[in-house]
Amino acid sequence: ANVAVSYCKLIITNYYSVSERALQFISNLTAVFPFSKYVTEEGQRVVGGVLIGTGLWIAVTFVMRNVLKYLLSWHGWMFNRHDLVVSWSTALWSATAPWPWPSTVLRSVTAPWPWPSTVPQSATVPWPRSSTGPQSATTPRPWSSIVSDWWEEYIYLRGRGPIMVNSNYYAMDFLYVIPTTRQAARAGNSIHAIMMYRRKLDRAQIKPLMVLNTIPMCSSQYERMFNTSRVPGVETDVLQHMNESKHIAVYYKGHFYKVWMFYDGRLLLPREIEQQIERILADKSEPQPGEELLAALTAGDRVPWAKARSQFFSRGKNKQSLDAVEKAAFFVSLDDTEQRYDPENPVQSLDSYGKSLLHGKCHDRWFDKSFNLIVFKNGTMGLNAEHSWADAPVVGHLWEHVLSSDPVRLGYTEDGHCKGNPHPNLPGPQRLQWDIPEECQAVISSSLKVAKALADDVDMHIIPFNNFGKGLIKKCKTSPDGFIQIALQLAHFRDKGKFCLTYEASMTRLFREGRTETVRTCTTQTCDFVRAMMNDKATREEKLKLLKVAAEKHQDLYRLAMTGDGIDRHLFCLYLVSKYLGEDSAFLKEVLSEPWRLSTSQTPLQQLDLFDLKRHPEFVTSGGGFGPVADDGYGVSYIILGEDLINFHISSKHSSPETDSHRFGSNIRKAMLDILDLFQLDNKANNK
Ligand SMILES: *[C@@H]1O[C@H](CO)[C@@H](O)[C@H](O)[C@H]1NC(C)=O
Ligand SMILES: *[C@@H]1O[C@H](CO)[C@@H](O)[C@H](O)[C@H]1NC(C)=O
Ligand SMILES: *[C@@H]1O[C@H](CO)[C@@H](O)[C@H](O)[C@H]1NC(C)=O
Repeated sequence: ANVAVSYCKLIITNYYSVSERALQFISNLTAVFPFSKYVTEEGQRVVGGVLIGTGLWIAVTFVMRNVLKYLLSWHGWMFNRHDLVVSWSTALWSATAPWPWPSTVLRSVTAPWPWPSTVPQSATVPWPRSSTGPQSATTPRPWSSIVSDWWEEYIYLRGRGPIMVNSNYYAMDFLYVIPTTRQAARAGNSIHAIMMYRRKLDRAQIKPLMVLNTIPMCSSQYERMFNTSRVPGVETDVLQHMNESKHIAVYYKGHFYKVWMFYDGRLLLPREIEQQIERILADKSEPQPGEELLAALTAGDRVPWAKARSQFFSRGKNKQSLDAVEKAAFFVSLDDTEQRYDPENPVQSLDSYGKSLLHGKCHDRWFDKSFNLIVFKNGTMGLNAEHSWADAPVVGHLWEHVLSSDPVRLGYTEDGHCKGNPHPNLPGPQRLQWDIPEECQAVISSSLKVAKALADDVDMHIIPFNNFGKGLIKKCKTSPDGFIQIALQLAHFRDKGKFCLTYEASMTRLFREGRTETVRTCTTQTCDFVRAMMNDKATREEKLKLLKVAAEKHQDLYRLAMTGDGIDRHLFCLYLVSKYLGEDSAFLKEVLSEPWRLSTSQTPLQQLDLFDLKRHPEFVTSGGGFGPVADDGYGVSYIILGEDLINFHISSKHSSPETDSHRFGSNIRKAMLDILDLFQLDNKANNK
């Protein structure tokens, strides 16, 4: 195909060099056109050349599209075991597949079944009621994007409960290093790095994520990373995306600011951004009435916020100021608390750090923004991301970029400032003006109350598990994800004395606009294994055999989910259609009413080339987490870092008598070690 494309270009641009024969053909062809009388022979040749060139171009594009579509729709490669001989079809396929992918062609490749999804839907995000069926998806769309549309709308945007804790999730900083203790400097470098990432995105310089270095994942979720805010509505929220946004919005101690990111037609440099942040930190003025707690509106229930927004923020300076926040590139919260991993007090310091990223004080993050960058008083930081516009790996990709740019490429001076010099005549940040009446302040307080109750109930526990990691798990000839999932099953059984429906999010971005599919990881096979582990009479060999079977089952389910053969998005769509038709299905009601009492998600580390995990294992993100999904369930997010470290972020609710994140954490630790013990490797876990 590439040869044919170059050939077409050759015809169009270097038409004089085409052989005599082709010229003859072109003049014959042009002779049949009526305008030939009015055009010189030279002109006719040009027209003929262009016509043929265009025709060929269209034909080649068409063929390429279809070939690409076919190649990308075939997922048989995924089911080849690495230890088996590669099947002939995979061999043929991989011989043809790895060429450079023209981006325009890629975008138009569709697959029949796109798989959308998420970290599990929260208990407070309801399934649609019968009156609100899919008829609202009125604009005709290709079938491929409908599932994603429905998912976005019904799982996220129509949820009327708080998005804080229930839907938003966070990403955490390095654990063991703090590049600078100056809050303004850390903000300077990281804001600059984020803006550089946006620029790369605008210029289409971000490479799509590749599976096996060959198959690109769909990149459509990146589109609304910046200049985006969720806007509340009474029935449903919407995502508002601006094609232009040259400023950011900043919150500090009850004040809101608008900070321009460009001056003199260029992006501000890190030291200049630091200078702007220093000015904000130095502002000792009083917050205006209602300003301090304003953002609590985004943390509480959606309907009161939607009503307050149209009542109090649709005119005058309130509208202007709200616009400055909602239309900003992203939101920055300068937190006045200090959060960091404290080796003296590891458990409590990390739990508080995680909670702060997840919900803060409920009024110091703008939860509607596509993401908040949070910079703490002594230079640690993190992100809080809204969930409707994309899934965690997309935010993770940005975060990896920021963390790898910050201490290494941008760097700091010896006294902890950003490199470079402050700008002598840079205009300062603009303080946003509000006029918030008492009536609105009452709504703010009641939202804050709802949010506070939710936040106080979160039982967060973060474990840097460093007894062993991917390195040893691979020696057990098990997939690391399968190993961890099975350990979670064992841990859960020991924790609660029973099995439960388990959710693991898998990506379905092999499909256009795909999001996620559910892997139901509590299987008959894992249950058999767990029972054997709990049975003193079972031998090591029996346990190992059952483990192997369970791991294979898990891997199979995961592959099926990734390749569009999972069941949960089917069920979801069936449910919507049944609501639309007004037909209640007892079957669907029953399968969908079972809560996900264990909800899990692996955060993939995507740009390994950015990090030097061997020499600087400490310079890597510690992952992220999300809030509890079911009232008496656990949320577990984990990230596999290098060969020897796995971080777990566990959440549950204090109000449930059945759960305790710390107890579950120690069960996970024990389960991981017990399973490793089965292999009797001469491992360093035993020496520790
Ligand atoms: C943004 O969108 C508006 C209206 O759709 C359009 O007029 C404007 O030219 C766009 N700006 C850019 C930079 O694309
Ligand atoms: C966001 O705004 C910037 C600056 O106006 C613009 O260049 C960029 O294209 C926008 N980004 C997106 C993803 O729309
Ligand atoms: C954090 O910063 C404050 C001043 O901004 C300082 O007094 C305190 O010692 C710092 N804490 C740590 C752990 O560095």
